[in-house]
Parts: sequence; C-alpha cells; structure tokens
Amino acid sequence: MSNACLEKEPETFDLSVVDQVVAEHASGAGSLIPVLQKVQEAVGYLPKPVMDRIARGLALSPAHVYGVVTFYAQFRLKPVGKYIVRVCHGTACHVGGADKISEAFGRELCIEDGETTEDRLFTLESVACLGCCSLAVVAMIENETFGRLDGVKVRKLLKDYRKREGSEPIEGDSHG
Ligand code: FES
Repeated sequence: MSNACLEKEPETFDLSVVDQVVAEHASGAGSLIPVLQKVQEAVGYLPKPVMDRIARGLALSPAHVYGVVTFYAQFRLKPVGKYIVRVCHGTACHVGGADKISEAFGRELCIEDGETTEDRLFTLESVACLGCCSLAVVAMIENETFGRLDGVKVRKLLKDYRKREGSEPIEGDSHG
C-alpha cells in the first residue's frame, strides 16, 4: 500500500438518527426489519455500534440483530462507494494477472479488496467472470467495462472518474 495513504480516522456515527427511527416503532422483533431498513437508508450501512443501539432500543439481543442483518442480502455491514470497481478474477483474467490489477486499484485507492474509500466514492471488489474473457484482464465500474488493463490504465481510469466527480486524487498527482 502506498505511503501516501493517510491513516484512517475512526468512524463516528450519529446515533441520534438510530434513536429517532427506533422511537417510531414498537419494541420487539416485529419492528426489526423496518427499523434496519430505515437506519441503513439514513446511515448507509449497519456497523456494530448502530446494530447494538438498535438492539437496545428494541429490547432484543445484539446476537439476534446481527443474525438478521447477516441473513438478508439487503443489509450491509460495510459502507459501499458511489462506484463499485469490480475486478474480474475468472480464469482468463486470473491467468492474465487479475491479482496485480486488484493490487493496482487498491494501491491507487488506498484500500484493500472489499473496502471503500473514505470519501465513499469507490468500493473495490473481486468478482467471477464478467463474460468478456477475450479482453482479460477486465474490470467494471458501474455499467462500463474496461479491458486489457494494466497499472497505467488503472491509474488513468481512476483519475478520469475523480475528475468527473471534481474530487482530488489521494496522493499529489505529479506523474501526469
Ligand atoms: S475471466 Fe474475466 S471476463 Fe471472463
């Protein structure tokens, strides 16, 4: 990981939002799903302090809340970015060096696979075959597919997306 990656600030959550949603519902397991949905809408995902607060508010055990959150695919334990970068690790892409491409994205974004950048712009994921193996190594960002990737293309791609968002690159971009 690049030295330019900044130390991450510990995440803080506005638990008053959670309290507000909980207060609109009756205690008990029957309210759990709608409360989780509303809180996720407000916070973006369901980290542990938020789940604990919901458990206390609805008089449920934290284990019960955690069990429900992990059971349903609609709930997220981690934040996701506006753009999900899906790097293909299917056979052709694996052979073509998908690991290196994931590493390159990770290095540029200062995150590991499965993580989201602090500005919530990008999430990095490894996925199975994206169906265009002749272009290996392939990645998708939103609905756009990018093929024959190498480190230089990865860097340019992210620079273009950041420019589109009016967002500064993580490290000073002196490489042109
Ligand atoms: S293996 Fe990557 S697109 Fe098929």
